[in-house]
Amino acid sequence: MSSVSSPLYDIHKTFEENFSNPPFSSIIPPSRQFSPKNNWIRFLDYSIASRIGAAPCPVTTGKGIALLARLGFDILTYKTIRRRAYPCHSLPNIVYLDKDTVLSETDLKKPLHARANPVSAEKIAISNSFGNGSLEPETLVNDITFAKSALLEGQILIVSVYGEGGTLEDTATEFAETALFAKQAGADVIELNFSCPNLLKKGDPIYWDTEAVYKIISCVVNRIDNFPVLVKLGLLPEAYSLSKILEAITRAGARGISAINSISMRVIDQAQQPAFGERIFSGVSGNPIRSLALQFIKKIVHINHEKKLDLVIIGIGGITLPLHFDEFLNAGADVALVATGMMWNPYLAFQYHQQQS
Ligand SMILES: Cc1cc2nc3c(=O)[nH]c(=O)nc-3n(C[C@H](O)[C@H](O)[C@H](O)COP(=O)(O)O)c2cc1C
Repeated sequence: MSSVSSPLYDIHKTFEENFSNPPFSSIIPPSRQFSPKNNWIRFLDYSIASRIGAAPCPVTTGKGIALLARLGFDILTYKTIRRRAYPCHSLPNIVYLDKDTVLSETDLKKPLHARANPVSAEKIAISNSFGNGSLEPETLVNDITFAKSALLEGQILIVSVYGEGGTLEDTATEFAETALFAKQAGADVIELNFSCPNLLKKGDPIYWDTEAVYKIISCVVNRIDNFPVLVKLGLLPEAYSLSKILEAITRAGARGISAINSISMRVIDQAQQPAFGERIFSGVSGNPIRSLALQFIKKIVHINHEKKLDLVIIGIGGITLPLHFDEFLNAGADVALVATGMMWNPYLAFQYHQQQS
């Protein structure tokens, strides 16, 4: 299958190859006019130059973050790490989708179809299957330290962490150890990635389980001494209570929510076979998920207000144009981040800032 790679990530190469030799050396960041400091925002005790940034993805490691910071992304999220090295799934890790409209809830059970090339950066639609791989801890410490040192004034580094174990206690302990590791490496904020498959309940992500959410966050907050913690969520099926989950998150001491993660769906290739082989489900992101992401953010904003939870809200999902950041901010998100749209248009933040000035 021939296809065009993202300007920031070569989909034909492995994560490790992209990490060592990223494809973006020819990108020269345009010079940016920062807004006066009295217009900067307060976000989790930090003063930040704007309300926009980059969500975790394979581009958001040291060199990628250094570039994105100079391209105007002010809130930078380092991709999810684990406490120990863990291999990524084999290639392909990313396929393009034949879907140039937004998804609705009734579409979620139907498979999507892969295509050879993206339609355009504006309509970028992909699915990914990486398996939450993680580099050696020694490499990670150096890389996170480098990412932090590359930030400009008015920017922060969130580090996304993950843990797993045979029991809830083991899972919580590993999340806490990874969070401490990330804090010591230079993170300004920790984000707990609760929206990947969880070994406790086969197939279900952690955030569907209120007790697990409460216990893991409590353990992390205790271990890192009340350092700011966010929780990354995905869409929630009707049968679960978003209110109860948000209340548990607040009670346990987390300070905010990031949503949404990519949406787990089936993808079929041109030969009508699963696009990722035995990995039947993969994470859909980019243009198709924006409407569902916005609806979900509106629900979170509503509950946050009704129940006086005082959580900060990071809106993510399907941003491909500068105006989409404002759609999330107008829906009540405190800040808005982008992954897929940025990978195929690295100038998205710069274009946003230009339109603001
Ligand atoms: C290739 C790829 C890898 C991702 N890796 C992570 C990750 O490591 N941790 C995480 O919390 N989210 C990860 N995400 C999810 C994004 O951060 C984001 O929540 C999701 O893709 C929706 O936003 P988007 O439509 O702007 O991409 C990944 C997304 C993509 C496309």
